[in-house]
Amino acid sequence: MERELAIEIARVTEVAALAAARWMGRGKKIEADQAATSAMRKMFDSVNMDGVVVIGEGEMDEAPMLYIGERLGRGKPYPKVDVAVDPLEGTNLVAKGYGNAITVIAVADRGNLLHAPDMYMDKIAVGPRAKGKIHIDDPLEKTLKIVAEANNKKISDLAVMILERERHKEKIEEVRRVGARVKLFTDGDVAAAIATALDETGIDLFVGSGGAPEGVIAAVAMKCLGGDMQGRLLPQSEEEYERCKKMGISDPSQVLYLDDMVKGDDAIFAATGVTDGELLKGVRFLGKDRAETHTIVMRAKTGTLRHVRAIHYLPGKPHLVMD
Ligand code: FBP
Repeated sequence: MERELAIEIARVTEVAALAAARWMGRGKKIEADQAATSAMRKMFDSVNMDGVVVIGEGEMDEAPMLYIGERLGRGKPYPKVDVAVDPLEGTNLVAKGYGNAITVIAVADRGNLLHAPDMYMDKIAVGPRAKGKIHIDDPLEKTLKIVAEANNKKISDLAVMILERERHKEKIEEVRRVGARVKLFTDGDVAAAIATALDETGIDLFVGSGGAPEGVIAAVAMKCLGGDMQGRLLPQSEEEYERCKKMGISDPSQVLYLDDMVKGDDAIFAATGVTDGELLKGVRFLGKDRAETHTIVMRAKTGTLRHVRAIHYLPGKPHLVMD
C-alpha cells in the first residue's frame, strides 16, 4: 500500500464526521448513520485503491451502501485492499449528543482482514508495554497484576474501560474487588480499545464484549500503535454459529489473536471525531460555511500516528455535507 493512502482515507472519515455531526442531538440515530455512510461512500470514489468492503454496513441485501463485497475506490491499477468501515461508531452517542462518537476506516492488503461476522465478540486490549503478556482466558485478577507491573503502576491506579451493560456486571465487580478503577462508557468500544495504547488517556486495560466488526477495526488500530488485542466470537444461536463457518472461521470458539484479525505488517487506520471524546475532538461548525475536524491516522508499517486538524470550507463539498 502506498503511504499516501493514509491521508486519502483520513479525508473520507472527515467528510463522514462532518455529515454525521449535523445530526448531533436530534434523537435520530438512523439518519445520522445514513448521513455518515452516504458521505463516506461518495468520498471513496476518489481514492486511489482497488478496495472491497469486508466489514461494512451489512450484507448486500440489507444495506444499500458500503455493503460487504462492495467495490470501493478507483479500481485497477491501484493497490488491492480490504476495507473495514464503521461510518458512525456510536450512533446513539450522536443521537443523544454524548461524547466519543467517531467515524472509522481500516484498510489492509487484500485478504489480510478477518471477515468478522456481525455478532458479539469478547475482547481484551492493552497498550504496547503489556503486549504479549496478557491472555483473554486469564482471570481478571491475574491480568490486572500483569498490566500494573507492565505499566509500572499500582493496581489501585489502573483505569479499566468497560462497556456499561448488564452482561458486564461480574467483570465490573471483579475489577473493583481487585482494587482497580473502572471507567464505564455507554457506547463506542473501538475508541475504548485504542485508549489503552495512548498514554495521554490514562487508560490501562479494556475488557468486555461488543460487536465483532468493531473488534477487527480496533485490532487494526492496535497493530498500528504496537498494542495488543485478543478476541473470541460469541455466536448466540445455531444460525450465528453457521455464519461464522460460512465466513471461513471453522472454530468460532478459538482465540483470535491480533495477527488472526489483521494479518501482515501493514495496515492503515483513520478515525475522525464527531462529538468530543478522549481520543478526538468533535466537529466544530465555525460560522455559516466552515467547520473544523480532528482526525487520527496511522500506519502499521511505520508506526506513525498523525493528528490532523482540518478547517473545511463547506460550500466546497456541497454534495457531501450540505443540506
Ligand atoms: P453502533 O454505533 O452501531 O450503535 O455501535 C455502538 C456500540 O457501542 C459498539 O461500539 C459496540 O461494539 C456495540 O455497540 C455494543 O453492542 P450492544 O449495544 O448490543 O451492547
